[in-house]
Amino acid sequence: MRSYWNKPKHKINLLEICSLLFVSLCGSFYLVSASCSSDESGKDHSPTPYALKEPAHFVKMLLPADNPLTEEGVALGRQLFYDPLLSMNGSVSCATCHLPQNAFSDGLAFSVGVNGQEGPRSSMPLANVGYYYKGLFWDGRSKSLEDQALVPVREPHEMNSDWSLVELKLRNHPKYPELFQKAFSIRDRKEITRFLVAKAIAQFERTLISANAKYDQVLEGKATYTESEERGRKIFFDASDELPKSECGHCHVDPLFTNLDFLNNGIQQVSSLEDFPDKGRGKVTKIIYDNGKFRVPTLRNIELTAPYMHDGRFNTLEEVLDHYISGGHLADNLNPNVRVLNFSERDKSDLIAFLKTLTDTSFVHNPAFANPFNE
Ligand code: HEC
Ligand code: HEC
Repeated sequence: MRSYWNKPKHKINLLEICSLLFVSLCGSFYLVSASCSSDESGKDHSPTPYALKEPAHFVKMLLPADNPLTEEGVALGRQLFYDPLLSMNGSVSCATCHLPQNAFSDGLAFSVGVNGQEGPRSSMPLANVGYYYKGLFWDGRSKSLEDQALVPVREPHEMNSDWSLVELKLRNHPKYPELFQKAFSIRDRKEITRFLVAKAIAQFERTLISANAKYDQVLEGKATYTESEERGRKIFFDASDELPKSECGHCHVDPLFTNLDFLNNGIQQVSSLEDFPDKGRGKVTKIIYDNGKFRVPTLRNIELTAPYMHDGRFNTLEEVLDHYISGGHLADNLNPNVRVLNFSERDKSDLIAFLKTLTDTSFVHNPAFANPFNE
């Protein structure tokens, strides 16, 4: 198994650095006008607070005090998210693996970074990622969106670049210095750092809220379920004594359709807890009982994010259901809510019909989240 953690160092092209340094010196007068946060009249240009539209049926999003959402910050974050400048050879942006049409996942079992390098895990959808407080990534190893955004740039199988190089490129870019100045009131392009890049991207990500699926519209009284969807809903939430229980709703808790816990849902057959090919949460906590546990993923937009699981092993929702119906592979830490289910074909198709009511097309097609370079 390739190790995710022992990364070869990316060799920085010396010529590239020299030429950037040269441009940097020549352009040192560039920011004279753009560098001040007040104009000649002395008027302050602090960024405009961003009014986040939060769904009434979600808990309020916790925003970090040192990175409030602003119009300018979110716009800059969106630009950076779609900009391949962040990668070694200008070929890969965050959006390469987080595409709007896939609810910001990529439709692959294993994501592909620069030079066609395959990573060890499946990409994750970013809908409602601003609410994921128990740790980001399948194993929860990043504490915040700001921390997370620093990771892909230097991962060899993702962007394979170097932050010092990215900082140089941004400082000497024809447009970015002004955008950073507007978003963070910096006075000099040298103040553009990886940490401001991460802050801007995190701001954009917090706006990626998906709460307008048919499921939400039914809650708001604006739509009604078909008979099949309603039967599926009852099976999902164990809401009827006449129907079989699925246990799904214990882990995929609404409204986010995840409880954000790290659990073993039995997809991997191993002879002991030491043998998980990807140890998941156990790699982070170093607790053997956590081996093979992964963060419960959201089921919002699940119709758009195949293939499924951290290693993309299932191609369809039918395959996923067959897994749960089988009761999963036994292990000392298999969660007891994964057990053999007694489902008919109709139960299966109704449950899938319900899962499809979690598709939010207005989220996927929201122009505010689309690639700004196409505008
Ligand atoms: C080469 C593909 C690739 C690129 C490029 C990439 N990602 Fe990811 N992203 C992934 C994969 C794969 C995971 C899951 C990795 C893991 O769990 O170890 C992930 C996970 C995430 C998560 C965690 C989501 C969650 O629910 O915990 C966030 C946030 C994220 N990426 C944002 C970004 C940002 C921002 C960028 C650009 C700076 C980026 N990604 C670039 C593939 C990619
Ligand atoms: C014990 C908690 C638990 C229960 C019960 C449970 N799941 Fe999951 N589910 C998880 C975990 C954990 C994962 C991720 C596992 C991995 O990738 O290794 C997951 C993954 C999934 C995925 C793939 C999501 C993705 O983005 O790849 C789907 C779909 C899914 N579950 C649907 C269901 C359905 C439907 C039910 C009920 C029949 C159910 N789950 C019951 C914990 C649970």
